[in-house]
Parts: sequence; C-alpha cells; structure tokens
Amino acid sequence: MALPTKDLIDLEFLTAEEIMEILETAKPMKDVLKRKIKTVPALRGKTVATLFYENSTRTRLSFELAAKYLSAGTCNISSSASSVAKGESLQDTGRTLDAMGTDIIIIRHNMSGAPKLLGEAVNARVINAGDGTHAHPTQALLDLFTILERKGQIKGLTVTILGDILHSRVARSNIWGLTKLGAHVRVCGPPTLMPTEVEQMGAKVYYDIDEALEGSDVVNVLRIQLERQQKGLFPSIEEYAKCYAMTEERLKRAKSDLLVLHPGPMNRTIEIPTAVADSAQCTVEEQVTNGVACRMALLYLMSGGGQDE
Ligand code: CP
Repeated sequence: MALPTKDLIDLEFLTAEEIMEILETAKPMKDVLKRKIKTVPALRGKTVATLFYENSTRTRLSFELAAKYLSAGTCNISSSASSVAKGESLQDTGRTLDAMGTDIIIIRHNMSGAPKLLGEAVNARVINAGDGTHAHPTQALLDLFTILERKGQIKGLTVTILGDILHSRVARSNIWGLTKLGAHVRVCGPPTLMPTEVEQMGAKVYYDIDEALEGSDVVNVLRIQLERQQKGLFPSIEEYAKCYAMTEERLKRAKSDLLVLHPGPMNRTIEIPTAVADSAQCTVEEQVTNGVACRMALLYLMSGGGQDE
C-alpha cells in the first residue's frame, strides 16, 4: 500500500480503506509478536529514528520495538540529550537525520503542527507520534484495532470518548478514525473541556456521563492532562472525578459487555479507579500490545509494504 501522502500526520487524511488496510496488516504482525523469535526481515536495511520532544513510555518504546522486530536499524533522539538543547531548529535536526540516511522519522512534539513542519523539511517519511493537542494517529489506530478485535466490527457501534476532550489529541484522532469506519461517536466531559469543533467532526456532545454511557458499546476514558490544564477549567480534581470518573458503579449500570479503553498513562485515583482499570472489561494492556502490532504494520506499509522484495 502507498499512503496518499509522504507522511502520516493524522487519520483525517486517510480513507476508511487505507485505515482498514493498516488494521488488517496489524493482524499478522500481532501473530509475529506471539512467536518465540519475534524478528522478521521486512525492514532490513532501513533506518527508523524516534525524535521525542515530549515524555513518552508506550509510544516511543512500541515504535522502537516495532522497528526492531521488523529488523530495521533504530536510533532514538531526545531533545534534552541532543543539539536541540543547543538551539538547533526542528528542520535542521530533521535534515541532519536525512543526511545520515534515515528512512522514517517518528516525532512527538508539544507543539501542534510540528510533524507537518518536519515532513515538509525532510526527504524521510514522517510519522506523527502525538503533537500538542492536535493528533495522535497511531494511538487511534491501536484503539480501533482493539475494538475490532474484541467486538468483531466497528460499523454501527456506539463509542463514547470520555474526559478532557479539549486538550486531547487522542480524542481528535479517534473521532476521525471511528467516524470514517462507521461508528456512532459520543464525546462526554465538562463544558469547559469541550471544544466546539467536535460536532462538525461528527461526534455527539454529552455533558452527563450516565446519559453518554447508556447504550454505549465502548468507552474510551481519557487521561486528565494535569500538565496541560489552565487553571479554573473545573473546580477541583475531586469534583471532576465525582462527575466524570468511569467508576465501578457506572460500569455495573452500563451494557454488560461495555469495553473500557484507556490510552495510558492512567490516573487511577481520578478518571479510572483501580477496580475498573484491572477489570476484564478494561483493555489497557491489550492496547499496549496492539500498539506494537499496529506500529509494525504502519512501518511496513510506509516502507513499501514488501513492494521492493
Ligand atoms: N498513550 C500514549 O501516548 O502514551 P505515552 O505518552 O506513554 O506514549
């Protein structure tokens, strides 16, 4: 498969067929992860660089492992330990990676739009691993894959995205992916954390969690992003948890097969209590495994998808 653009900036720019092709490719990749020897030669001779200007555990590690399992050469650059700390621009850092023969650059940045800017400056293909409050397309892919695997379909499902929608790149990318694949998307959170554009993106807005959960097949519980909060968007953490936490009581009242997703990292004392986080209905660890498979699929497809072989 050839993606329609050089870079993967968001699911907004992919068709339903292109998204499905990535998800279908992730299935055999997940089988590779179950093998005793997890490496396949699909990306032998290619170089993948991760360039992270913001903290990450899951995304960074899973991209690195995905590249290694596909036999690519890998290198990791963090802004604090690179010449970025000396004032080098994003474009110059990218061009330096280009000059060293990097094929794919995976970037996380606290500024929305940084991956697009980098992609315009380099020959390497660029994958957005999360930019500001804009997009996190590979998180959405692994969420879609998890739903598809557990529910067998996405079309027709009702999926509620719960929490701080305003600051959430995960919410935006999920809305694009879910609506393209035919799900009914609900977003639920405090009015002060609800951006106006979500309705235009095809999501239905709820401010009452119990109304939103009624009839939902899936709930994707977002992390309260304490580091992004401007003061005063909700009265207190306790008040937020009282109104919007995915509690055990709410889980009991919901559909018995409600699937509970969380992108991680979790605030177990705020949006998702331990009893729910550790329940059989919560897929947080499965999502991590699926993240490696989906990122393997994406790296494979963006490297030509075996067309060179
Ligand atoms: N879900 C997610 O993006 O996690 P990390 O910040 O650990 O990569």
